[in-house]
Amino acid sequence: MEWDKEGEGSHTLFSLTRRRFLSLSGFFGLALISGSPDIAMARAEKEGRMTYQSKDYNRLLGMEGFSDTLLKNHFTLYQGYVTNTNKLMEGLNQLLKEGKIATPEYAELKRRLGWEFNGMRLHEYYFENLGGKGGIHKGGKLAQKLMESFGSYEAWEKDFRATGSMRGIGWAILYQDILSGKFINFWINEHDVGHPAGGMPILIMDVFEHAFMIDYGLKRADYIEAFFRNINWAEVEKRLLLHKA
Ligand SMILES: [Fe+2]
Repeated sequence: MEWDKEGEGSHTLFSLTRRRFLSLSGFFGLALISGSPDIAMARAEKEGRMTYQSKDYNRLLGMEGFSDTLLKNHFTLYQGYVTNTNKLMEGLNQLLKEGKIATPEYAELKRRLGWEFNGMRLHEYYFENLGGKGGIHKGGKLAQKLMESFGSYEAWEKDFRATGSMRGIGWAILYQDILSGKFINFWINEHDVGHPAGGMPILIMDVFEHAFMIDYGLKRADYIEAFFRNINWAEVEKRLLLHKA
C-alpha cells in the first residue's frame, strides 16, 4: 500500500516492507556494535557530535485548507526522519571508528542515509514554504525568473501542478540549476532518487498520500489548490541563488 511506503520509512528501522530495506542482519549487526541506537545517539550528543534537531512547525496549525490532525500527523512523520537520520549517522560513525567499513552493515546504513536525510530535509523545505498569504509578487525576481525559464508565470504554474498531479506518490519540486540558473520542475518519486545534481530546491510540494488524504481523500487537485493558497512566497524567494549565468 502506497500510504505505508513513506510512513514505515520514518517510524522504524525495523520494518521489512520497504524495497530497499535495512536487513535484519545489518541492523542487528549495528545494534551489537554500538548498543541500542538511542544509547549511541545519547553518546554522540555527549561527545559533542552534531545531531539534527527537528524543527517546530506549529505555526502552521490553523492554516486554511489543512486540518490540524493532518498537520500534526505530518509533523510526527517528519520527526521520524530526523530521528532516523541521527541514528544512521551515529551508526556509520561508530562503524568507521571501529574499522568495520567493508561490511554489509556499513553499506546498508550508507545506502539508507539518502532516504532518511532527504526525508528530513525535504519536509523542512515543504513546511517552510507554507504558511503564506497571497500570490506571488508578479513583478518580483522569482516571477521574472520563472517567466524566463517557462515563457510565463502561468506556464510554470501549469507545469508544476501537472507534475504534482502525476499518478504515484512523491514530490513536485521546482529546482534551480545552479550552473545555468535555469528553473525546472522535477518529479521526485522517492526521497533519495532523481534529484538534479547541484539543484537548489526552490518550491516543494509533498504529494505523498499522507500529505492530503486525511483532508481530501483522493481529491489531490483540491489539496494542490489549498497548497497554492498557502505558499509562503517570501520564503521561496529567499531560496533564489545568485549565479553568473
Ligand atoms: Fe510528507
